[in-house]
Amino acid sequence: MKKKHINILLLGSGGREHAIAYKLKQSEQLQQLFIAPGNAGTSEIGTNLPITVTDFKAIKKTVLENQIEMVIVGPENPLVNGIHDFFLNDIQLKHIAVIGPQKQAATLEGSKEFAKEFMYRHHIPTAKYKSFTKENVQEGCDFLENLKPPYVLKADGLAAGKGVLIINNLQEAKNELNEMLTNNKFGVASNKVIIEEFLDGTELSCFVLTDGKNYKILPYAKDYKRIGEGDKGLNTGGMGAISPVPFTDKKFLKKVEERIIKPTIKGFQKDNIPYKGFVFIGLIKVNKEPLVIEYNVRMGDPETEVVIPRIQSDLVALFKAVAEEKLDQFDLEIDKRTTTTVMLVSGGYPEMYEKEKEITGINDVTDSIVFHAGTKKVQDKIVTNGGRVLAITSYGKDFTEALEKSYQNIAKIKFDKMNYRKDIGFDLKA
Ligand code: AMP
Ligand code: GLY
Repeated sequence: MKKKHINILLLGSGGREHAIAYKLKQSEQLQQLFIAPGNAGTSEIGTNLPITVTDFKAIKKTVLENQIEMVIVGPENPLVNGIHDFFLNDIQLKHIAVIGPQKQAATLEGSKEFAKEFMYRHHIPTAKYKSFTKENVQEGCDFLENLKPPYVLKADGLAAGKGVLIINNLQEAKNELNEMLTNNKFGVASNKVIIEEFLDGTELSCFVLTDGKNYKILPYAKDYKRIGEGDKGLNTGGMGAISPVPFTDKKFLKKVEERIIKPTIKGFQKDNIPYKGFVFIGLIKVNKEPLVIEYNVRMGDPETEVVIPRIQSDLVALFKAVAEEKLDQFDLEIDKRTTTTVMLVSGGYPEMYEKEKEITGINDVTDSIVFHAGTKKVQDKIVTNGGRVLAITSYGKDFTEALEKSYQNIAKIKFDKMNYRKDIGFDLKA
C-alpha cells in the first residue's frame, strides 16, 4: 500500500464494529473512516453510510466516491456472499485491500460439513460426526440409536445462530432430525444435517489474524452465550466476555497452537484456500485437551469488545500487514491487563423485544468504554435499535476488578426494560 494515510470502510453495525472503529480511530495511519451502516456509537467516530452490508453495488459506488483503500468486513454474511471475490473480480476494485476471506474460505462458517471435512483432512481434533440429507433420514435415525445422549444436531448452513440443537431424548432427536431434513425447519440451511458426538467441557474463543501464510494469535476470550444467570435459558449472540481466559495455562495454549492453529493455516495453503482476515476458532477444553467446535470467518461479538481493547499495536498498520502478506514482520503488542464486557440488552431478547427506547446516562460513565451495538440517533437522543444494545468494557488487574467497574457504570445507564447478566465470570471464581 503506497499511501501512509488511508480511507477505510468498515462494514457492520454491532458492538464488534464499534470496537474496531474505536481502535482504528486511534491509528496514525487513518485518514477518514466510513462505517456502513454503523450505529449511534460509530457515528461519533466516523461517517455512517446508510448501506446494507450485502449491497455490493452500493458498496462499490461508495468505495470509488470516497477513495477508500481498505474495506474491513465485520459480519459473516457479506463474506459468505463473496464480497472479497466481488472486489477481486472488478477491475476498478481489485487493488483495494479487503480484510475478510474469500467465499471459498467463508464456507468454513457457511457450511458445517465443509468445516468438518477440512478438520478431518488436516487431522485437527474435533467431535466425531456424520452428515445426512432427506435421502437417508432413516440412516440418520439409526446413527442416533448408536450414540449416547445428549444428541447434537446441526443444520449445515447459516441459520442465524439457531441451527444447533442439543437434545437429551432419543425420540425427540429423531423427530427434530425429521423436522430439519424433511420439513425444512431451518429452510435450506437444514437440507443437510450433521449429527455429532457431544463434547463435555469448557468453551473458549480463539482469534487468529492471518495473511494466508503467516498468523498472529490475538487475545483469547470467553463469552457467556445464555440469556440467564448461571448459564441458563436461551442462547443469545453473547451477554458478556472476559479476556484473557483464566483456565488456559501455557501448556494448554501450546497444544492449541500446535494441534489446531498451525494445521489450520497450513490447511488453507495445502487446499489452495486464500485467506486474509480473522479466523475465529470456537474451542472446547475436554480433560485438558483442546478440540474445535466450529470455525467462524470473522471476529466474535461480544469477544471483540474485550479483545480489541487489549491490542496496543496500530490496527491500521496491522491490517496493512495482512493485505501485504507481511504479518511475519509485524510486532503485535498486547496489553497484559484483563478486560471484561457486560452486554445491556432489550427486555424480551433473544425473543420478541421493543425498540426505540431512550437511553440515558452514557455520558456519566467513567473508567469504562461504552461500545454501542443496537443503538441509533433520533434527533439528539440515543435510542435502542436491537436486542443487544450496549457493551460496557473495563480494564482491571484481574476480571473481578474489571467487572466491578463495568457493573458500577451500568448502574448509571437506563432504558425501559433494560436487562443484563449480573453474574459474568461466575464460573471462574476460585
Ligand atoms: P456452533 O454453532 O457449532 O458453535 O454450536 C453452538 C453451540 O452448541 C456451541 O457454542 C456449543 O455450546 C454447542 N455445541 C456445538 N457442538 C457441540 C458438541 N459437539 N458438543 C457439545 N456442545 C456442542
Ligand atoms: N460470541 C459468539 C459469536 O460471535 O459468534
